[in-house]
Amino acid sequence: MSTMAKQPVALIIGASRGLGLGLTERFLERDWRVIATEREDTTRADLRQLAARDPRLSVETLDMNSEESLAALHSHLAGKTLDLLMVNAGTAGSPDESFAQRLLAVMRTNVAGAMSAVRILSPNVRAGGVVAVMSSELASIAGNTQGGWEPYRSSKSALNQSLRSYIAENPLVPWSLTAVAPGWVRTELGGPDALLDVDTSTRGVTEMLMTRFNQKGIAFLNYQGKTLEW
Ligand SMILES: NC(=O)c1ccc[n+]([C@@H]2O[C@H](COP(=O)([O-])OP(=O)(O)OC[C@H]3O[C@@H](n4cnc5c(N)ncnc54)[C@H](OP(=O)(O)O)[C@@H]3O)[C@@H](O)[C@H]2O)c1
Repeated sequence: MSTMAKQPVALIIGASRGLGLGLTERFLERDWRVIATEREDTTRADLRQLAARDPRLSVETLDMNSEESLAALHSHLAGKTLDLLMVNAGTAGSPDESFAQRLLAVMRTNVAGAMSAVRILSPNVRAGGVVAVMSSELASIAGNTQGGWEPYRSSKSALNQSLRSYIAENPLVPWSLTAVAPGWVRTELGGPDALLDVDTSTRGVTEMLMTRFNQKGIAFLNYQGKTLEW
């Protein structure tokens, strides 16, 4: 099993804002090289401004709901080895949509988009490396005693189910897979009443991910490294 390169490389999907931007900053603080993605039509400048100041960061465009966009990024990364693939992008949909529209929208991004990203980009991850996907504590079926956030919760449960299927069907992949619960965090998705700031969550997630190198199989872990019930 290969060991960590001197300056390891992370690919972080969905880094224009919120947790993805925070994770990008955390890995740069650890002196990693980071390839971070934003959507082509983003109105956010934070990631590009960070890249202008830090040569260890490069920015790629990706809409993970487009297989064409995923294939373009994959071919752009040809020959590049990743230590970590972090599929962070996700959505809670819009409250202006009907229940059914919102359910389909979150399934499209949080399950179809995220799993396509895992399938298309994970071959670049080195042996002993880490593939991680942003799930949520709300994904836990065993932990659902209160309801709430039904479309979003259902999409993250479906994501976890897909991750488990993927690893069951591909037991020989040479990296570990992690479904990540970042806590309830003050981002546009989490809202202003959330318990954690981006810094606390992403520091915890980064430390937890470091424990997943040179491991095999799948785990569902929160930002404090605690195993959650599926
Ligand atoms: N905040 C929380 O409390 C919380 C709790 C549990 C889990 N999570 C999960 O953590 C992840 C990040 O959430 P966040 O709170 O940082 O949300 P956020 O502030 O709304 O950011 C979401 C990010 O995902 C990107 N994105 C959305 N759809 C995409 C697509 N199809 N292709 C590529 N990028 C896409 C967005 O890009 P644009 O800027 O272009 O829209 C943005 O960078 C999500 O998976 C979320 O479900 C968050």
